[in-house]
Amino acid sequence: MNKTIGILAGSLRKESFSKKIGKAILAMVPEGFEFKVISLDDLPVYNQDFDDNNEVPKAISVFREVMKTVDGVIFITPEYNRSVPAVLKNALDAGSRPYGKSVWNAKPAAVFSSSPGNLSAFGANHHLRQSLVFLNMPAMQQPEVYLQKVNELFDENGVLKEGTTKEFLQKAVNAYIVWFKRNAE
Ligand SMILES: Cc1cc2nc3c(=O)[nH]c(=O)nc-3n(C[C@H](O)[C@H](O)[C@H](O)COP(=O)(O)O)c2cc1C
Repeated sequence: MNKTIGILAGSLRKESFSKKIGKAILAMVPEGFEFKVISLDDLPVYNQDFDDNNEVPKAISVFREVMKTVDGVIFITPEYNRSVPAVLKNALDAGSRPYGKSVWNAKPAAVFSSSPGNLSAFGANHHLRQSLVFLNMPAMQQPEVYLQKVNELFDENGVLKEGTTKEFLQKAVNAYIVWFKRNAE
């Protein structure tokens, strides 16, 4: 049976570069795997009362159920104020509860970050990794994926242009698959 890898982009923006990277990665799936984009567009802000009072909004329950069908995760994060955008941190938080039933546990992960600027969202990439330690997600170390000038990587249809970045992304996806096979429980 195919292994399923969830692709989560940390942006709600319609023309999000992170979403476009996610779309580009879909075509890079190797045999034996399925890549599934998981939208965060409708995920409410997590409130602990939801679980404490048994009033979990449907969108969060659905998100948790979808995440349970996933064997590994590729996170694609932009950077907001040198850290992880709230939408992605919120997804981590919503999926991590109720306590002991986290949807993230033991799933091998990769973190790809990008920015229109030169620093490639390094800060967000590493802040995200801090949460992954606690969530018990083995996160691929190499290659590190920092994409700069992301606004120059797509054509007018939002398709990733041919070139060194596309080749590098394919290498990173291939490395993640090796990482996944080594770390999946
Ligand atoms: C609130 C806010 C904070 C931002 N902070 C940073 C930042 O710290 N570093 C950075 O490289 N870009 C920053 N940016 C610019 C984003 O990299 C840019 O908007 C990017 O396109 C967002 O990702 P997306 O295209 O996937 O939506 C910020 C943008 C916003 C709206």
